[in-house]
Amino acid sequence: MVKQLDETRDYLIQRGFENPEIGIVLGTGLGQLVEDIEDAIVAHYNHIPHFPVSTVEFHKGKLIYGTLYGKKVVVMQGRFHHYEGYDFFEITYPIRAMESLGVKKFFISNAAGAINPDFNKGELMILDDHINLQAGSPLAFKEVSLFGERFVDMYQPYDPDLLEAAFKVAKEHHIKLNKGVYAAVIGPQLETRAEYRYLKIIGADAVGMSTVPEVIVANQLKVPVLAISVLTDECDPDNLQPVSVEEIIATANKAEPQMIKLFKELIKII
Ligand code: HPA
Repeated sequence: MVKQLDETRDYLIQRGFENPEIGIVLGTGLGQLVEDIEDAIVAHYNHIPHFPVSTVEFHKGKLIYGTLYGKKVVVMQGRFHHYEGYDFFEITYPIRAMESLGVKKFFISNAAGAINPDFNKGELMILDDHINLQAGSPLAFKEVSLFGERFVDMYQPYDPDLLEAAFKVAKEHHIKLNKGVYAAVIGPQLETRAEYRYLKIIGADAVGMSTVPEVIVANQLKVPVLAISVLTDECDPDNLQPVSVEEIIATANKAEPQMIKLFKELIKII
């Protein structure tokens, strides 16, 4: 596994992915940020050695290197989900690959349902904690100690300095930024009313199907993480409205400029 990762890194370095400072993961409906990357070098997931083999949906999946607002970045456009049949090691392989290139910070985004009744669809939520309901860990494999600690401390999974910086930027640019706990489920089905009720009781403010495995691995690698959810639907168990994945994507698209603004201004100041 370590040798595989070396081969992945060597390929990317050969392609010109040199010393990126920030690794960015773009969630569902949040791909526009890549338009702003200068001098972009694109590597399709299917061409990167040892990257998980892409499904049809993932033909678009690519890793993009370049300069974003003055910083060298590597961006994942399209991520791998457990519901697509990938295991947790595969889902988080790109995180390990980006770290092996020298990434010093991760910015992760996702689309999530709002559980907290004070949060509205179209708003952003910064993660300050999470609940892993995916019934698995990206650290549960034999060779894990070759990559770092096995018993990773999750005392503070999201970097407090990045959190503070994000609030500062949000205030300056009049972006409504909620803060909360993200619950990660496997999906791909959305939740039942009873499940939303349960999520609320256990302390979740938002629910989605990604991010947590990536954050666990970033913590194993001791790379600070900032994660933002774009809230795409309101999950009130007592007044639940039908929702389709198309609507979720459309709402994510609509809220995307705010997320881009937040990422952009943060990248400038960190
Ligand atoms: N559950 C409910 N609503 C959502 C989700 C989810 O996992 N992701 C985006 N909106």
